[in-house]
Order: sequence, then C-alpha cells, then structure tokens
Amino acid sequence: MPAYASHSIDYAIQQLGGRIHEERRRQGLTLQELAARSSISISRLSQIENGHHVLDAVQADAIAEAFGMSLEAFLPADVTIPYVLSRDSEVRSAPITDPSVESALLQEGEQSWPLAERFIGRHLEPLLTRLDPGSDRFVYHHEHEFTFVLQGAIEFTIKTPSGVVREELHRGDCLHFRSSLPHRLRAHGGEPAECIQVISSGATPLSPGQDWRLAGFFTEGDSEDGRAQVIGRELGALRESRGWTTEQVARMVGLKDRQIEQIEAGTRRLPLDVMIRLARAFGKPLREFLRDTRNAGPHYFVQRSSEMPALAARQRRMPTDRAHAPTPNVFYPLASGFATRHMYPYLIRVRNVDTETLARHEHHGEEFMYVLEGQLEVTTYAEEKKVTEILRPGDSCYIDASVPHFVRGVTRSPYSQISAEVLDVFWCPLGETYLFAD
Ligand SMILES: [Fe+2]
Ligand SMILES: [Fe+2]
Repeated sequence: MPAYASHSIDYAIQQLGGRIHEERRRQGLTLQELAARSSISISRLSQIENGHHVLDAVQADAIAEAFGMSLEAFLPADVTIPYVLSRDSEVRSAPITDPSVESALLQEGEQSWPLAERFIGRHLEPLLTRLDPGSDRFVYHHEHEFTFVLQGAIEFTIKTPSGVVREELHRGDCLHFRSSLPHRLRAHGGEPAECIQVISSGATPLSPGQDWRLAGFFTEGDSEDGRAQVIGRELGALRESRGWTTEQVARMVGLKDRQIEQIEAGTRRLPLDVMIRLARAFGKPLREFLRDTRNAGPHYFVQRSSEMPALAARQRRMPTDRAHAPTPNVFYPLASGFATRHMYPYLIRVRNVDTETLARHEHHGEEFMYVLEGQLEVTTYAEEKKVTEILRPGDSCYIDASVPHFVRGVTRSPYSQISAEVLDVFWCPLGETYLFAD
C-alpha cells in the first residue's frame, strides 16, 4: 500500500521535493527544461525541490506528467500491510452498511459486496454481486469492467456508438468491456445470478445528467485551469458515487464545505495533502482524481467457458537467476480479445508443487485472487516475516505484488497435479508483457 495509508501525510509530502530533484537529475533535465515541460516557473520549481513550497495537486500532476510518470511513483511505499483477505462466509454475512464505490450504480434487487475495501490505494475494485431479473436501468462509469459469471445466467446489454449489443452469459463465461458506455447486467431466465466484477481504477460514475459521450472524451489537461477542472470533476463524481455530501467530505479532510465546492468547481486548487487525505478516505490511488485514461478500441469482449479448453496457456516470466526453475502454474488469459485492457484477468490452474524457494517472486502492481475450486496457499514475506494463509472456494485475497509472495495449491492427494483453480486479475503499471515470458 502507499505510505499515506499508514504514515503521517506530512511525512509523505516532505519527501516529495527531494524525489522530484532526484528524478530530474536521473532524467538529465535542467530546471529550465522541467519548467518548460510543466509550465511551472524555475524559481517555484527550485522552491519545490528544496522543500520550501508545498505542492498542490495541479502542480504535482504537471510535474509527474513532465517526467512521464504517475504521481504515485513519487510517494514512498509501505509494505507492512501486504494484503487483505475476504472470507466467503464473512463477506456474505456482512450487512451492506458501507455502500461501496458502486453504490450509486446498483440496480434494484441487486446486492454487491466489496472484496478489497480495506486495501487503501487499490487500482482494482473487486465486487461479489448478486443480480435479480428486472431492472431496466443503464449505468456507466469510468474505465473498464471485468465480469465473471459464478452462478446462473446474465443478460448483458451495452450501448456502443455503433448500436446496442446484447449478449447472454452463463456460468463460467466472462466479459471485459468499456464501462464508460451505458451498460446493464441483469439475471436471465428467472433465477438470480452471481458474478465477480472487477472495475479498474477510475471507476467513478459520472454525475447524473452529465453527458457520457462528452464526459468520455474530455480533453482538458494542458492548461492549469483545465487540470483543476478535471480534478474537481473527478472528485465530485467519486463523492457522488459514495453518496457523500460535500459537507461530509469536508469534515473527513479538515476543510470547509465551501472549499470542497470550490475545488469541485475547479475554482480552488486542491492542496496535495488534502488530495492524499481524500485518497485515504476513498481508499483509491491518487490517479483517480487526476484524469481519465479511457481510449477508443473494442467496446467489449466475451470469453465463453466452452472456449476455455482451447485457450493457449501463457508462461509467467521467471527471475533470470532462476531460469531453470519449474513453472508450476498454468495461466489462461480471459480478456485477450480486448486489446486496450489495463487490468489482466486470468484463470490460473495452480499446481501442487513444493518449490517455495524457486517460485517465490515479487513484481510491480497489485493482484486480486478469487478461489473457484480447491485450496490455495498464499504466503507473503513482508519485511522477511513469513505469513501463510489458506483460501477456500469463495475466499479472495488482494495483494500488493511488490511484496515477495508465493502461491500454491494444497491437496491431500500426493498424485494430484492440480489442486486449485483461481480467478486472478493483475494490475501492473508496466503492462502485461512485463509479467509474461511469451
Ligand atoms: Fe458497471
Ligand atoms: Fe504474483
């Protein structure tokens, strides 16, 4: 998790000037060059680097962009909380008291349980959703959504720019789509249905009444005013999705009601420490407030369970010093037909092998694992403290993948080759090719 999840916010901010200085040096840029790229004056930049000026969100975003990096990368990380677990029984028995990010999107007769609510800064929003037949309401929100049908049948309707498309999905089928297009999921065939939904970061419903076609392709961002407006709009949409008032949000971050309204209107700068407090309150990464990254490309892709046996398995990249280690698990891509995806869903057949020292690994990003079948043993080594958890069907785990970790199937049978089937969604800032060897 990011350091702002558990350290004082000042600590994170204090480090920022030094990190900007280091990065500028690393990229071989002069203050003049950075000033030209970021539209921030040289004297202001040097104050920022020396820690004499506290950045606001607009400046921080402009500098990060000038470096070609995400703002998150400038803030220190904290690996003392490497994962959060959700047990199936606990999830289902929990009353839905804290409406999740999707609350504004829920249709009548629909229940959704957040599966990684406690993971601050998460880039993926995994939900267990129960759908009833019925609702005619269409919803839309940022970025992409992945839906895997656990039980029953689901009718999926999406309004694409080239027309309305309808698909019927059954148990084991899955779907990856641009959720900024109006879409509707409902149970089909008279029985309730259940699915796992994962929404990639930026999952912010637009304000009711906002035109999704315009909102989907806003182009501000070059001018400072434009940036402040994007930030304001993203904050407003995120706040509304939670059903929070400006007053409630103001109280959470120590501002006045009026100030939040002005930030949302783009007429007041969002101070960076407030932005970090907001990220903490919403449990979201900072980029959630900065800009929308959706692009054109396919509108949706359906992977049928009947096609799964024909899917070509992929090989995970192994550390070079372990080139000859056995690769224990088999990865089947579930959204390969959706070329512009920025989360990577896989079905993993996890083998029962005893190669802990060889298969232990770490990588950039975050990983959501949901156990479909068998037993999964997840071991993490945060600051060399080894912790092992056993997950059963319906249990899930959201993990900071930069912490060394190791997963394997557990079975009593010494002959069993495969001992767990897991739905795994990766989020990785370096893209998918970084994770796989082929
Ligand atoms: Fe959705
Ligand atoms: Fe991993």
